Amino acid sequence: MKNKQIVAAIDIGTAHITAALANITSAGDIIPIAFAEVPSKGIKKGGVVNIPLVQHAINEVVDILQSDGSYHVHSVITSLSGASIMGYNSSGSVAVRGTNITEHNVKQSVAAARGTVEVLEGRQLLHVLPQSFRVDKQTDIEDPIGLMGEKLSVQVHVISAAKTTYYNLLQAFAHRDVDVDRVIASGFSSAIAVSSPDEKQLGICVLDIGAGTTDVTVISQGVVKHTEVIPIGGDQITGDVAFFMRTTVPIAEKTKCVISLKDVYGENETLKVQGIGEVARKYSKNDLVNVIGERYSQIIEVVLQKLERAGVEESFPAGFVVCGGGAEQQGLVELLMKKTQLPVRKAEIEVPLGREVVKGSRFATIMGLFMCDYEEDYTRTMTNEIKIGIIPKIGGLFSSSLARLRKQF
Ligand SMILES: Nc1ncnc2c1ncn2[C@@H]1O[C@H](COP(=O)(O)OP(=O)(O)OP(=O)(O)O)[C@@H](O)[C@H]1O
Ligand SMILES: [Mg+2]
Repeated sequence: MKNKQIVAAIDIGTAHITAALANITSAGDIIPIAFAEVPSKGIKKGGVVNIPLVQHAINEVVDILQSDGSYHVHSVITSLSGASIMGYNSSGSVAVRGTNITEHNVKQSVAAARGTVEVLEGRQLLHVLPQSFRVDKQTDIEDPIGLMGEKLSVQVHVISAAKTTYYNLLQAFAHRDVDVDRVIASGFSSAIAVSSPDEKQLGICVLDIGAGTTDVTVISQGVVKHTEVIPIGGDQITGDVAFFMRTTVPIAEKTKCVISLKDVYGENETLKVQGIGEVARKYSKNDLVNVIGERYSQIIEVVLQKLERAGVEESFPAGFVVCGGGAEQQGLVELLMKKTQLPVRKAEIEVPLGREVVKGSRFATIMGLFMCDYEEDYTRTMTNEIKIGIIPKIGGLFSSSLARLRKQF
C-alpha cells in the first residue's frame, strides 16, 4: 500500500482517451476529483500508431484535469492494450534450506520467476502475479510465510507486451513534463475493477470489449489464471454496419446503438438512414440485428476457443462480466448467456464527481488503474472483503453511491 494521496490516471483507448484525478485514501477508497474524456486519435487496436496525435489528445486531457488551477499532473499511471500483450504462466524457486520462510524469501521466489521472463527478447514485462506457492512437495499453498522447507517455488501469471508497443506508449508522454509511473495492462485493470471478491474467488471471466480489442481476463481463487487480448472490438461492428448500410461510420455508430440484439422486430420495422451520396434508404431492423449479432457471436466464439486452448474453460463458474463500451450493446448480455449457459452481467461503473455522476461500462479501465496504484502486489485488491470503492466528494451522493459501489467492487 502506498502513502500517496492524489493520483492521476490515463486510459489510452482506441476510441477514447480518458483521464482522472483521484484521492486514494490509506483505506483504499477512491475519491474522484477531476475527470476528462476526449475522442482518441492515433491509436489502432489498442496500440499507438501516430505519436503526435496521441500527444495532442494527452495534452487535451491533462489540460482539462489541471484547468481549475488546483492540481498539476507530474506523473501518471496509464494503460496499455493491443495484440502484443501476452499472458502466460511461469514459475520460479529459491532454496530456503530448512529455515522458516520469510517475506524476503517470497520476494526472492517471485524475482526468480521474473528473471526467467526477462530473458525473452523484445518483451517488456508488465506484471508478475503470484498464483500459488509450493514448499518442497506440498503444492497449492496460498501463503508460505512461516512454513519450514528446503525449497520454495512460486507459480506466477506473467503479462508482457512487445517492447516496441511499450516504448511507443511512453513516447506519447515524452513531450510533456509528465512521468509515467506505471503501465498496467488494460484488461487486467478492468478486471480487478469490475469483479467482486466473491467472483474472484469462485472464478470469473471478464471481457472488456473496447473499440479495437476485446481483453479477456480469468480470475479464480483470488488469482489471475489467464489473460488474452483479441484484436476485434466495436470498431469492426460499426464497420460491418457501415458496409451493410453503405453509409458513414458516424451514422453506423448511431445505428448500432439503437438496435437491440434481444428484440424481435416486426417484419416492417425499418430504420431510414442517409447513405453515401445523400441517398436515404430503409433497412430492416432484423437485418441489422443479424449483422451486429454475427460479429458479436464471432467475438464470443474466438473468446471461447482461446479459453479452451488455455485450459481455463471450467475455471469461472461465476460466469462473465462484460465491460468496455462494446458491453453497452443492447442484448449482448442475453446473447452471451445463451451461447455459454453461464451467468453474465454488465459492469455498471459510476464515477461520482461532485454533484454529477459519469456513467458507463467503458470506465472500468480507468477505475482499475486507481486500484492498481493503491498497492504494488494487488493482494488486498484481489482477495479481501475490504472496502475498495469510489466515494463521492460531497455529502449528498454519499450513501447511495457508496452502497452501489461496494456492491460492484
Ligand atoms: N450503446 C452502445 N452500443 C453498442 N456499442 C457501443 C455503445 N456505446 C459504445 N459502444 C462501442 O464501444 C466502443 C468504445 O468502447 P471503449 O471506449 O471502451 O473503447 P476504448 O477503450 O477506447 O478501446 P480499446 O480498449 O479497444 O482500445 C466503440 O466501438 C463503440 O461503438
Ligand atoms: Mg479500453
